[in-house]
Amino acid sequence: MAASGRPVTVHDLQTCKREGRRFAVVTAYDYTTARILDAAGIPVLLVGDSLGMLMLGYSSTLPVSMEEMLHHARAVARGAPARLLVGDMPFDAYHASDAEAVHNAAAFLKAGMNAVKVEGGGRVVGLVAHLVERGIPVMGHLGLTPQFVNSFGGMRVQGRSGDDRRRILDDALALQEAGAFSLVLEGVPRDLGAEVTAALRIPTVGIGAGPDCDAQVLVVHDLLGLTQDPMPKFVRAYGNLGAQAVDALAAFAADVADGSFPDDAHSYH
Ligand code: KIV
Repeated sequence: MAASGRPVTVHDLQTCKREGRRFAVVTAYDYTTARILDAAGIPVLLVGDSLGMLMLGYSSTLPVSMEEMLHHARAVARGAPARLLVGDMPFDAYHASDAEAVHNAAAFLKAGMNAVKVEGGGRVVGLVAHLVERGIPVMGHLGLTPQFVNSFGGMRVQGRSGDDRRRILDDALALQEAGAFSLVLEGVPRDLGAEVTAALRIPTVGIGAGPDCDAQVLVVHDLLGLTQDPMPKFVRAYGNLGAQAVDALAAFAADVADGSFPDDAHSYH
């Protein structure tokens, strides 16, 4: 996608959907990781509010502030300016009023993002139309939306009952009609992921939603094996960088302790 070096746009994602080409989305929270993701050719980077847990050590995504999100968004924009960059609207940034939501979404665009993501259906649908009308592309997010963890009573797979399935499908269609350019589907049964994907013109981006979505997103720390925390079922770790980092740091400390680092080759003369 956009191999010419031209920036990736929301229209490129629609073309992928039309042509049946799948694409990868990965979270990014800092400059160096954004450069690595750019070098790997990942077309869409999501500055997810998961940064609250992975970069800041909060126990959920709920405490993350706009100020914290913007700080990380600016760093990612400096690292991968030609990728499609999506800023995740934090929990308290878009519910009080449409005016506040526009203000916060605009702040993401000023920070170098190309779009924002909001969680939920229902009353969020009107807000999506409001943002889209003002030139702010929006990615929707349905299913196991982490900002609703307290309402769900934990991180539970959504869309298992008939009513829940219908609600997710109806919300997906409503978000598409409101102008969302794509839709994250998180933590839903595989067949629901397939059904929603088949029903929409816009691409679905699955995370724990099975293989039939148009795209897949993973959290970069999970994908690279950077943490040693237990992984959810839907994650495949493509690296073991956390353990490698521990080994490298322990080797450094041992070399310093026994005087073998620095040696003459790492000294100035
Ligand atoms: O915040 C995040 O990382 C996300 C993705 C996992 C979809 O919302």
